[in-house]
Amino acid sequence: MTSRTAVRPSGVERVLADDELIVSKTDLKGRLTYTNDVFLRISAIEEHEALGQPHNLIRHPDMPRGVFRLLWDTLRAGDELFAYVQNLAFDGAHYWVFAHVTPSRDARGTTVGYHSTRRAVSRTALTEVEALYAQMLRVETQHGGKGADEASLAWLRARLAEQGRTYSEWLWSVAGGAR
Ligand SMILES: Cc1cc2nc3c(=O)[nH]c(=O)nc-3n(C[C@H](O)[C@H](O)[C@H](O)COP(=O)(O)O)c2cc1C
Repeated sequence: MTSRTAVRPSGVERVLADDELIVSKTDLKGRLTYTNDVFLRISAIEEHEALGQPHNLIRHPDMPRGVFRLLWDTLRAGDELFAYVQNLAFDGAHYWVFAHVTPSRDARGTTVGYHSTRRAVSRTALTEVEALYAQMLRVETQHGGKGADEASLAWLRARLAEQGRTYSEWLWSVAGGAR
């Protein structure tokens, strides 16, 4: 399969249509167990290249590590998260999504995997999210190396605490209305 290091961002943006949803499911370690057709098409990837692979298969280098730290902390606490995520397709194009990520539970309530559904972003909100992520990346660069994800997440939590909101609540407040 294509090596991730071989894929360089081309600068081409792919935009999700308003009526399209990207769906993927993973096991407890974040390895893909299901991808819908929209996921495969927008990521320029074949199903056999995706299934069984870790979800960082489509990680974009410009995404702050602290956002994924927040995602995994939230999922492991049994909660859901809404997040803006920029992904890198296998052909170098990038695309932004408004993602909802949640644990999947069996009849006994035991978490058996994770599930994400994503839709198009609001361009207005994206401007705010890009500014936020740029600041998180600066914190990560200043911190350097191991623990940079915790440092930028701590920075994010401090900003949100000032407003008395979670990241998901902040995101809904900026993404809620207009496109
Ligand atoms: C259900 C689910 C969906 C995910 N979706 C994405 C995604 O669309 N893009 C992404 O980069 N990471 C996604 N992740 C997070 C990845 O597992 C991983 O934490 C992230 O890509 C950072 O990878 P890294 O730790 O190798 O830098 C998802 C995780 C789960 C459990």
